[in-house]
Amino acid sequence: MRKKIVAGNWKMNTVMGSARELAKVVGNELAARPDLGLGKGKEVIFFPPYLFLPEVVNICADKRGVFAGAQNCHQEEKGAYTGEVSALMIKSVGATHALVGHSERRTYFNEGDDLLAKKAEQLLGHDLTPVFCCGEHLPEREKDNHFNVVKAQLDKGLFWLEREPFRKVVIAYEPVWAIGTGVTASPAQAQEMHAFIRGLVSEKYGQEVAEATTILYGGSCNAGNAAELFANPDVDGGLIGGASLKADDFLQIILAL
Ligand code: PGA
Repeated sequence: MRKKIVAGNWKMNTVMGSARELAKVVGNELAARPDLGLGKGKEVIFFPPYLFLPEVVNICADKRGVFAGAQNCHQEEKGAYTGEVSALMIKSVGATHALVGHSERRTYFNEGDDLLAKKAEQLLGHDLTPVFCCGEHLPEREKDNHFNVVKAQLDKGLFWLEREPFRKVVIAYEPVWAIGTGVTASPAQAQEMHAFIRGLVSEKYGQEVAEATTILYGGSCNAGNAAELFANPDVDGGLIGGASLKADDFLQIILAL
């Protein structure tokens, strides 16, 4: 069954105290709202900085449908890679998900699709759910090349997977021009790209898998526009940056799911 998800990518924000507080305030509010249906086809995922991941995992542990994941992972299993964090480490603290190929990783850390494919493989090998991010830059959209860009990212990063491991993957469409800019894709632009992505999944893995694949929208999604975006048939929730750092805003977005 296709899951609906709201995920908060905290990026390089918070310190231990504020990370704990944010996860607790949101988590406790969600735990008090069984009517939201979390755990029954709906999920909330926090992506805190690595250091705070065990703390956030603990806060989520007794809350149905609320999970914690990492913002990245290294592509190798283990070894002499000073400063890096492996999928096995992420798994060992009880996290369940990890972002792969966020545009900030692609841009600032030169992560390309071949590398991202290895990261996805590592995560799946440890039974973690990759949330694979894709999306075009503004000049690519202006040249009407956005569909080709996203297709190439998915082809190289994900579509080499066999059908069964692919079923575990979540896709996040994040147009780079909308990330952190306050400019959101219109609901029509989001729906158009999400339907295109689902069509690609269907061509590769068949309609049943495509219908079951969760495709999130990311890029200046906030409490004011989430409901309009999530109302589209192929938009299954959101990957939220800035607005996930404010408990009230993030809760409003979850209510829009
Ligand atoms: P934003 O970030 O909501 O602040 O635009 C989204 C993201 O980077 O995942």
